Amino acid sequence: MSLQKKAQLCAEYIKEHAAALVVSHIDADGLTSAAIIGKALERTGIEYKTCFVKQLDSAALKDIADRNPELVIFTDLGSGMLDAIGSLKINAVISDHHQPQGSYEYHLNPHLFGINGATEISGSGVTYSLAQALGDNGDLAALAVVGAVGDLQHVKYGQLIGTNRSILEEGAKNNVLHYEKDLLLFGKQTRPIFKLLQYSSDPYLPGITGSEDASIEFLKKIGIRQHGEKWRRWIDLETREKQGIVSALMQRCLSSGLQASNVQRLVGEVYTLLCEREGTEVRDASEYSTLLNATARYDHADIGLAVCMGDRGKIYDEASRLLEEHRRNLVEGLNLIKEKGIIQMENIQYFDSGSKIKETIVGIVAGMSASFVSNKDLPIIAFADSEGGLKVSSRGNYNLIRKGLNLGLAISEAAKEVGGTGGGHDIAAGAFIPKESKNEFLITLDRKIGFQVRKIGMQLEP
Ligand code: C5P
Ligand code: C5P
Ligand code: ZN
Repeated sequence: MSLQKKAQLCAEYIKEHAAALVVSHIDADGLTSAAIIGKALERTGIEYKTCFVKQLDSAALKDIADRNPELVIFTDLGSGMLDAIGSLKINAVISDHHQPQGSYEYHLNPHLFGINGATEISGSGVTYSLAQALGDNGDLAALAVVGAVGDLQHVKYGQLIGTNRSILEEGAKNNVLHYEKDLLLFGKQTRPIFKLLQYSSDPYLPGITGSEDASIEFLKKIGIRQHGEKWRRWIDLETREKQGIVSALMQRCLSSGLQASNVQRLVGEVYTLLCEREGTEVRDASEYSTLLNATARYDHADIGLAVCMGDRGKIYDEASRLLEEHRRNLVEGLNLIKEKGIIQMENIQYFDSGSKIKETIVGIVAGMSASFVSNKDLPIIAFADSEGGLKVSSRGNYNLIRKGLNLGLAISEAAKEVGGTGGGHDIAAGAFIPKESKNEFLITLDRKIGFQVRKIGMQLEP
């Protein structure tokens, strides 16, 4: 069977119902997934309500079952809780891309078809396949790409690959998406150019990152002028000026001793949403996904969902305000790790942010911190206080995955051993564990990850 065939089966099952409860995850991929299925249900004439959860644990499942829904559609979550969902007396469809644990009849997941859910398709991509099986929903490809970019699925190859690529091509054919190679720095639609340089953390621009003065001086030196008092945005520059900046940045990085592979990360494919107004966050998939994270990860999933459903008025302005706060929190979070440092064990490194970083963004901060931690050969584990326990987030890299790292598996096993729950992807995973079990969890995880990376390492030896 193929993903599309299974999507057909799930779609037929959905159509047997008149109403559904959509349950999704509080991040960009979760919001876009919920919006995609919401639009598709609306167009099919099926009534629906949406709710968002931080984590799908037994308590959340009980709350959902207590609502007595006719049908539940889980998007961007659920694959880690298949048996628990099966044991509830509910009708459910699960449209997710996390590594599956257990089995369930109406479970749509790329891993069941040999497709990698961390690089080839996101929760919103899976849900887009379901939407396409429900009807003609090709325009929703734009939201699917925002979800994939939000999950950083384009990072490994500098472009979307696999099923994501097919969705992108469909979106391009339907005139909702455009893709091209461009500078990868964040904020090309909305921020004055010097800020792109000043806030670049991946790659870290030697002598430029972190300094407004140095960023401005760099631009002036290569002949980029202000217009009156104002700095232009990237989208306002002429092609010649853009090329000048990219090559000067590359030269600066190379002459400062940055590895060529890091320098190459300055450019890559970028995704434009053609139906959105130029100069707004939602015109660019990466800025759009950050805008969404700034809502749902701060208990305002309703605002993010409204933006995905098309609001460009008051609610959109509210989302933009939340974005400013989110950016400030990320910078503060990164500064905290720089000050506190990171503790190394044999096979992992970790920091505990206590209550200083919100549990819903500690994973993003852990991912961003990879650009400045000195040891790139160990996965980063992060802790944040959570109600009734500890939130764990982890981030690896593709070099470690080649050696055998599977964070989703290691984290879910280690969490289970100390009485918690967890899961995710090979490259990024999370868990919730009892507060007092932190040390035991760290020791167990360190051992498991050591085993993972050495096992494959041994197999590779001649
Ligand atoms: O829950 P979900 O699947 O939506 O989240 C995936 C997570 O994996 C995201 O937080 C994303 O940032 C992270 N990721 C990463 N690096 C990658 C791919 C994914 O940090 N290369
Ligand atoms: O929360 P964080 O961004 O660190 O999550 C990383 C990945 O692990 C995401 O894909 C998330 O959905 C997944 N995760 C999970 N179970 C948890 C916590 C996170 O599957 N308890
Ligand atoms: Zn996802």
